[in-house]
Amino acid sequence: MDRDDTEETRAFWNRVARDWDVQVGDDGDSNRILNSDPVLWQLAGDVSGLTVLDAGCGTGYLSRKLAKHGAHVIGVDFAEEMIAVARAKTPHIDFRVDSCARLTSIESRTIDVVIANYVLMDTPELEATINAFYRVLRADGVAVVVFSHPCFPQGRATRLSDGQGVMTYHWDFPYFERRKCVDPPWAHFTSDFIWFHRPLSDYWKAFTTAGFQVLDFEEPRVTAECFHLADNPRKLDNSCIRPYSVAFKLGKIT
Ligand SMILES: C[S@@+](CC[C@H](N)C(=O)[O-])C[C@H]1O[C@@H](n2cnc3c(N)ncnc32)[C@H](O)[C@@H]1O
Repeated sequence: MDRDDTEETRAFWNRVARDWDVQVGDDGDSNRILNSDPVLWQLAGDVSGLTVLDAGCGTGYLSRKLAKHGAHVIGVDFAEEMIAVARAKTPHIDFRVDSCARLTSIESRTIDVVIANYVLMDTPELEATINAFYRVLRADGVAVVVFSHPCFPQGRATRLSDGQGVMTYHWDFPYFERRKCVDPPWAHFTSDFIWFHRPLSDYWKAFTTAGFQVLDFEEPRVTAECFHLADNPRKLDNSCIRPYSVAFKLGKIT
């Protein structure tokens, strides 16, 4: 990925910062609430008293939850508009404009837990980002990374027939090709969406090449205890039949 991709992606996220806040609000969107947040909390474990980096924090819903769980939170995002919204909502949290691929505002070996919640498929610089996560973690620190499932892209999913639980996914390029994708706006968003497809094995290689050990891996799905949190039957049904994301717990090997 080149410098132009980074600038274009940053400009995109600045443009949609207010739309993003509508999307996630203070509790996360329905996919986060139903599927991935329970897994994220399970993989992160007890964060009370720990220094946690919310990398690519957006407007900060997760940073606020981490702070409520007793973590010392640093939230970073390269989009100034995201950080402006996050700071306006919670001035006492340490929100910084910084790139996950550099983390220039974070000293090496000072973070207990790095969390990147739906960021890796949105960042143009995968390997640099994983290396930066490794650098800032203390010995024995962990990273929890949740990102959109690269095998089942939501924007290319079509339900075949109701009640059958069957989806089809439309691919207009080879799965094995890394590619910058531009998808049309969805829901209330007014801008095209920029994201980066990479095969799942590229993520795994980025983790292990940086020095991480893969400690756990999940494909988050709704569990019976969360059924009542679904806004409507369609969202619940979608969560039961399709994977929206993958979740890794990575350990720093020193
Ligand atoms: C899908 S949003 C997720 C935001 C937040 N983690 C959440 O779950 O609400 C992706 C975020 O990653 C940020 N981002 C993408 N690449 C980044 C990078 N290289 N450095 C810092 N932030 C980045 C974007 O600005 C955006 O806020």
